[in-house]
Amino acid sequence: MQILFVGDVVGSVGRDAISYYLPKLKKKYRPQVTIVNGENSASGRGITEKIYKKFLQDGADVVTLGNHAWDNRQIFEFIGKAKKMVRPANFPDATTPGQGMVFVKVNQVELAVINLQARSFMVALDDPFAKMDELLVEAHARTPLVFVDFHGETTSEKLAMSWYLDGKVSAVIGTHTHVQTNDARILPQGTAHLTDVGMTGPYDGILGMQKEAVIDKFRTALPHRFEVVTEGREQLSYCVIEIDDKTGKAKKIEAAVINADHPFRE
Ligand SMILES: [Fe+2]
Repeated sequence: MQILFVGDVVGSVGRDAISYYLPKLKKKYRPQVTIVNGENSASGRGITEKIYKKFLQDGADVVTLGNHAWDNRQIFEFIGKAKKMVRPANFPDATTPGQGMVFVKVNQVELAVINLQARSFMVALDDPFAKMDELLVEAHARTPLVFVDFHGETTSEKLAMSWYLDGKVSAVIGTHTHVQTNDARILPQGTAHLTDVGMTGPYDGILGMQKEAVIDKFRTALPHRFEVVTEGREQLSYCVIEIDDKTGKAKKIEAAVINADHPFRE
């Protein structure tokens, strides 16, 4: 199975990049499953039902989220019926709507897609390692093919999760920092790892936000309101993973970006 995973879509510039490039990437790599992280897709904050449906229409099979999942209140109205969307699984079970794991079936082969959130410099959610132990019992009862979007701030916590899960899941791919890391690899027991897949959105902002306010914040240490960049050049960040259908082990991982300095090649 070939999986295409596109990193954090930010605002309208990111959504337009998805509509334009996703069909081209699908033609190039012919993935059986396409996954898009959409937690910043509505004006850089959260996601709406309309955007979720547009991602599916543009070719996504699953939409993953993260710490900004709840920033647009609309999510509470549709997350219960969004069967192809996952929010971080380690939010408290009793009080969190939506699901943390979803299964996608392609030609009799099933892939479990899990969204998980780290805790370093982030909200203190339930232990993501213990949550994975729990989810893997359920996932492995159905399939050895498991994809994890681990939404986290620090490189160390993301690497720790990948090594912890080596041989137990097909891939652990990081999201949230919006900058793609150059460490795509396959760990010894067959788990594909990438510390962060990067962002899909404005190319000339800072992590998708208008750069002036971010620079000012660092210079003055005073609070600033960040606004998403709504026009100009775009970038798209992604990775492609090939998994053995029988064993669930990763055979290949490749990460790339598309932007003005690294144009798309057929
Ligand atoms: Fe995030």
